[in-house]
Amino acid sequence: RPLDINIELPNEQSAQKLKIGIYFATWWALNVVFNIYNKKVLNAFPYPWLTSTLSLACGSLMMLVSWATRIAEAPKTDLDFWKTLFPVAVAHTIGHVAATVSMSKVAVSFTHIIKSGEPAFSVLVSRFFLGETFPLPVYLSLLPIIGGCALAAVTELNFNIIGFMGAMISNLAFVFRNIFSKKGMKGKSVSGMNYYACLSMMSLLILTPFAIAVEGPKMWAAGWENAVSQIGPNFVWWVMAQSVFYHLYNQVSYMSLDQISPLTFSIGNTMKRISVIVASIIIFHTPVQPVNALGAAIAILGTFLYSQAKM
Ligand code: 3PG
Repeated sequence: RPLDINIELPNEQSAQKLKIGIYFATWWALNVVFNIYNKKVLNAFPYPWLTSTLSLACGSLMMLVSWATRIAEAPKTDLDFWKTLFPVAVAHTIGHVAATVSMSKVAVSFTHIIKSGEPAFSVLVSRFFLGETFPLPVYLSLLPIIGGCALAAVTELNFNIIGFMGAMISNLAFVFRNIFSKKGMKGKSVSGMNYYACLSMMSLLILTPFAIAVEGPKMWAAGWENAVSQIGPNFVWWVMAQSVFYHLYNQVSYMSLDQISPLTFSIGNTMKRISVIVASIIIFHTPVQPVNALGAAIAILGTFLYSQAKM
């Protein structure tokens, strides 16, 4: 009887592990840099709708140039592809702008503590919208996630309701984005990198009219002048950095999605949040009370228990 086991040589296995390790490290590093510059920009220029639009515009432009110069091969797409992408792009746009609005109102660390509660949203949406049921340990793991986030929220020194709601809306939107994109990427011929490029372009088209309606060029011009006079010409580089790094970290995360399971991805995402929370607390000297840190630690521990329970 022929052996039907897939034998992976130890060398191949460690090469694959190394590759995933490099993806993860790059993803987290790019994300930390994005979060720092994004907050620096928002502190001086509190217009999150414009900065969110610029991030998408910058990524779209980078990818169009890469396709035109053949640095990357342009994807072959049809109308069906763009139709399936539409709900993903709507959810991505809402999740992105809501997270940025949140970060314009509260500390980066607080937004990411609330965002570490994403698995709880995922389970609740799957349960109530898709009728999926889970084993008891999965539901139990939600208790520390929800309890930890709640403890961190009520003890947050600079609590702001818009900041809190923005992070919650972002969680909900990204759960829908992940559900829709799982369907959209199934059996796809478009790579993770190009899929994210198309997603940025469509999100940019969706977001631009809303950004103009909510904030608009008049506010932007006055705010920009003010920011440049406060920070100096370097301000433009900060805006460039937040936009470029936003695209790069998302691109790497979609590229790694090609290689790993959604579960490994969500564990990686939680670990990413730990690096952002720690880095931003150090860089922005965010005041943290011990009970506040305890809430964050419980929530993060909960997301690890959740991933164990899902395995
Ligand atoms: C955004 O602006 O889209 C958020 O910062 C994204 O958050 P996440 O990729 O860490 O979920």
